[in-house]
Amino acid sequence: MAAVVTGGGSGIGLATARLLAERGAKVACLDLDPSGVEEPLLGLTADVTDQDSVDAAVAAAVERLGGLDVLVNNAGIGAQGTVETNSLDEWHRVLDVNVLGIVRLSRAALPHLRRSSNAAIVNTCSIAATAGLPQRALYSASKGAVQSLTLAMAADHVADGIRVNCVNPGTADTPWVGRLLDAADDPAAERAALEARQPMGRLVSAQEVAAAIAYLASPVAAATTGTALFVDGGMQGL
Ligand code: NAI
Repeated sequence: MAAVVTGGGSGIGLATARLLAERGAKVACLDLDPSGVEEPLLGLTADVTDQDSVDAAVAAAVERLGGLDVLVNNAGIGAQGTVETNSLDEWHRVLDVNVLGIVRLSRAALPHLRRSSNAAIVNTCSIAATAGLPQRALYSASKGAVQSLTLAMAADHVADGIRVNCVNPGTADTPWVGRLLDAADDPAAERAALEARQPMGRLVSAQEVAAAIAYLASPVAAATTGTALFVDGGMQGL
């Protein structure tokens, strides 16, 4: 299996790339900053908001990996605020990365995926797609779009033999959340509040999310397309 993971330089993306490689895949990590990507993973610099950058990185990955079977659209950025407090520039920026980034990668990857007999796209969505969370209007809108896009793409490409699914993590213990906690007035209280929000009373790990992505990417999930798999400590269902 040959896989491209965006945002593969950190957190959930890096954990996913490592797991896929452990299971025998050849993996390219596309990231603004691939400096944390170690052998045998292939680190490639790419900006998902720039189609030329995406096209060049996907072409390089396909050449180095010898094809493409799996695309993991995981690169994403967050935003806190309401419709009144986030600027329109922030709206454009977050939607550009979180939603249009998937569109750009998919455009570059689909011609290669059509040639694979085990083709899959897995998008990293979020609990924010379906839960009404305060101070997350923009982020939630972006992830709602990711979930809808996942379903629509699953329908568009089912006849091509390409499965399209998403994973919806709850709050996950990654460098992203580390930065959020560092910026909080009381990091310990903020962490406790995030843990309490999930019925299991803890954050999920990057490895737990990676395991769900790897499942959806693998032929074991051959009958599954157009679904959202929640890895959220029970937040959605309980
Ligand atoms: P992270 O910040 O540790 O990793 C994100 C990676 O994406 C970084 O390496 C960053 O350089 C890369 N990236 C950002 N913008 C990019 C761009 N324009 N082009 C290429 N790469 C870019 O974050 P984490 O937590 O691993 O998040 C990964 C995904 O998981 C995101 O889509 C996020 O929305 C989603 N998610 C995270 C949750 C969490 O609690 N950590 C919960 C639910 C979803």
